[in-house]
Amino acid sequence: MKFYLTLMKKLWSGRFREKTEKIVDDFTSSISFDVRLWKYDIEGSIAHVSMLAKQKIIPAKDAKLITKGLMDISEEIESGTFRFRDDLEDVHMNIEHALIKKIGPVGGMLHTARSRNDQVALDTRLYLRDETGEIMKLIKAFQRVLVSLAGKHVEIVMPGYTHLQRAQPVLLSHHLLAYYEMLERDRERFADCLKRINVLPLGSAALAGTSFPIDRKYVARLLKFPAVSENSIDSVSDRDFVAEFMSASSLLMLHLSRLSEEFILWNSEEFGFVHLPDAFTTGSSIMPQKKNPDILEMVRGKTGRVYGNLISILSMMKGLPLAYNRDMQEDKEPMFDTVDTVKSCLDVLCQMMKKMRFDREKMKEATIAGFLTATDIAEYLVKKGMPFREAHEVTGNIVSYCIDKGKTLENLDIQELKRHSERITSDISEHITVGASIRGKTSFAGTSPKQVLARIKRIRNKK
Ligand code: ARG
Repeated sequence: MKFYLTLMKKLWSGRFREKTEKIVDDFTSSISFDVRLWKYDIEGSIAHVSMLAKQKIIPAKDAKLITKGLMDISEEIESGTFRFRDDLEDVHMNIEHALIKKIGPVGGMLHTARSRNDQVALDTRLYLRDETGEIMKLIKAFQRVLVSLAGKHVEIVMPGYTHLQRAQPVLLSHHLLAYYEMLERDRERFADCLKRINVLPLGSAALAGTSFPIDRKYVARLLKFPAVSENSIDSVSDRDFVAEFMSASSLLMLHLSRLSEEFILWNSEEFGFVHLPDAFTTGSSIMPQKKNPDILEMVRGKTGRVYGNLISILSMMKGLPLAYNRDMQEDKEPMFDTVDTVKSCLDVLCQMMKKMRFDREKMKEATIAGFLTATDIAEYLVKKGMPFREAHEVTGNIVSYCIDKGKTLENLDIQELKRHSERITSDISEHITVGASIRGKTSFAGTSPKQVLARIKRIRNKK
């Protein structure tokens, strides 16, 4: 009887003389969102209880009962028959309460040598470790698409831009691979962040550690943590690993947003460089001709909320005295939102990119107008012995001459060119075509097909 009365109350109700107000339950409850941690909570509890038994802190037969109870709860949650209760605050309390209800007072042994403070830190780390792995896989898949497009289109030329002004001809492949490199650094950032996520906080208890003879290294082995945290106060009070994850996410989103912005421009009538697949665009409710790049716009837009999430957690943490404070419960929603946003953006962009068509004619055309090979003329003159500054000036005059006459560099005849410098001879025609300009960029990591193909090869040779 006494046991069932216990279940009517909160698990921490001992020192309270009044029932919590409903408004307080509603205000403090996190179950609506931290329910997502249930699998990790159970996984952590099973490891914890097995350590308690091994250390003879609780009897082995009780540990067995607890483990069985937790596994049953796991099945119920999985099958949708488990009812989470708002008045039980959070996922940890819900599961512990259900356990005690299921197996009786022995379930109350589970929380020996543990606090929700190290428990929530553990669950968050387990969750973020998994999701970081997922995000790294998605980045890799996206990179594969970029490399495959680059490999398929090595002959497509386009203008490279600075200040959104046509600057020099480049290979489309080279441009696409620029994003490969950004994503590679993003992946490395997540991998690096993972090292600091992957540290076991459990065993720190509320903040001071515990007087029970626990074996933290054993728990770390069970949960596949390569390291155990070194300071119990730090373990329960920092969320820098969450902020770091969000910061890596922000940079990733920055890159995805720039890519989106470029494809929005390239898809416009004004550029016409790409055709987005119909299945990945949307129409307008009023203008029948429209085919809008909404996916790209939304990736660009969602970047803002991922930044916002990072700022939320940084601001939430900055004034907190050690150790745990309830403010820290506010880390979860921005974290979950960042995980969901980043994963969905990577996934949808990756699928869309696979079906994107490039308009090689439009891209080629754009390299003809705009004097993109002017730098090549200057370099030609330097190779003929002229100091670069002078060559720059002479080439500038040639461009200005073209503008006056309404000509392109490629259709100037040798006489017209010679008028600007005696050093120019007929071999210049080999230097000022778009093809020659690109072929000539043989410096390491330049846009010549040789360099681009070599980079693709190096990427493919990486495992
Ligand atoms: N729901 C809480 C959180 O997310 C769990 C930890 C509660 N600890 C406590 N001492 N109230 O942070």
